[in-house]
Amino acid sequence: MSRPVKTIVVVGAGTMGSGIALTAAQCGLRAVQVDVSAAQLDKARGYHTKQFARLVEKQKMTADEAHAAASRLSYGADFAAVTDADCVVEAASENPDVKKKLFRAFAETFAADTLLATNTSSISITDIATAAGARASQVIGMHFFNPVPVMKLVEVIRGLATSDETVARTLDLARAMGKTPVPANDRAGFVSNRVLMPLINEAFYACMEGVATAEDIDQIMVLGCNFPMGPLRLADFIGLDVCHDIMMVLYRELGDAKFFPCPMLRQLVTSGRLGNKTNRGVFEYSR
Ligand code: 3HC
Repeated sequence: MSRPVKTIVVVGAGTMGSGIALTAAQCGLRAVQVDVSAAQLDKARGYHTKQFARLVEKQKMTADEAHAAASRLSYGADFAAVTDADCVVEAASENPDVKKKLFRAFAETFAADTLLATNTSSISITDIATAAGARASQVIGMHFFNPVPVMKLVEVIRGLATSDETVARTLDLARAMGKTPVPANDRAGFVSNRVLMPLINEAFYACMEGVATAEDIDQIMVLGCNFPMGPLRLADFIGLDVCHDIMMVLYRELGDAKFFPCPMLRQLVTSGRLGNKTNRGVFEYSR
C-alpha cells in the first residue's frame, strides 16, 4: 500500500501553478511552489496572501486556519531541494521540450514512489512520459482548470505506461484537494479542450465575419446557454496565446482543419494582445 500524498511540489508559479499550490495548502497538504523566476514566485506569493485575506474576510476560513495554510506553503527556485515530495505537479509552459526536460530531471531527482504529474492541457502524456524512462509508469496527467481554487474538475489522463497504482493515488490526491477527478484518455486536448477550443474558435469566426459584435456573441452565450462568461471573454481569461497553442496541438495531432486557429485569434496573438494578462485581448481590461 503506497503512502498518501502529504507533500506536493508545484513546478511553475504562473496562474495554474499558483492556483494548484494554493488549493493544496488550503486542503492540508504541504505545498512547495517552485519557479526559476524570482519575480514569478513573488507574484504567486502575493496572490496567495491576497486569497487567504479574502477567505478570512468572507469567513470561509478563520485567521488561524489561514495562518496554518499559509505556513504549509513555501517557495523556492529548485525542486531538487525538496527530497521528501510525494508528488510533483508540473505546471510549466505548454511546450513539449520544456516538459520533457523537466520530466527527465524529475525521474533523476525524486524518490522512487513520487508521483510525476503534469498539468498539460493538450500534450500527450505518453510522449511526456518517454522522458521519465523507467519511471514512465508514475507519469500521469492532472489537468486542473482556471481558477483552480474554484473549479471542481481535475481531468485525469493516463498515458500508455501509467500504472493502476499511479491512477489510484492521483484520484485520491485530487479528492484530497477537494476536486472531482474524471478520467479521460490520452488523445490531444483530452476531452475538455477538444470540446472547448473549437467552440472558442467558432466564436472568433463569428466575430470576424460580423455575425455579431464580440460583446453580443458573449451575451448570447451567457444568456442563451448559461455560460458563466462568454467564449471570447473566456478566451481572454485563459490567454489567447494558450488557446492558440492548444489549437495548434489539436490541429497537428488530429489532422483536421477545423482545429486550425481562426485568423482573428492568430492576429491578436501576433500583436501581443493576449487577454487579461496583457490587459488587452478581444476586450480591454484595467488591472
Ligand atoms: N482565485 C481564487 N478564487 C477566485 C479566483 C481566483 N483566481 N477568481 C474568482 N475566485 C472566486 C471569488 O473569490 C468568488 O468566491 P466566493 O464565491 O467565495 O465569493 C468566486 O470565485 C466567484 O468570483 P466572482 O464573484 O469574482 O466572479 P464570478 O461569479 O463572475 O466568477 C469565475 C468568476 C469563477 C471565473 C466564473 O466567471 C467562471 O466560472 N468562469 C468560467 C471559468 C472557466 O470556464 N474556466 C475553465 C477554463 S479552461 C481551463 O482552465 C483549461 C485550460 O487547459 C485552458
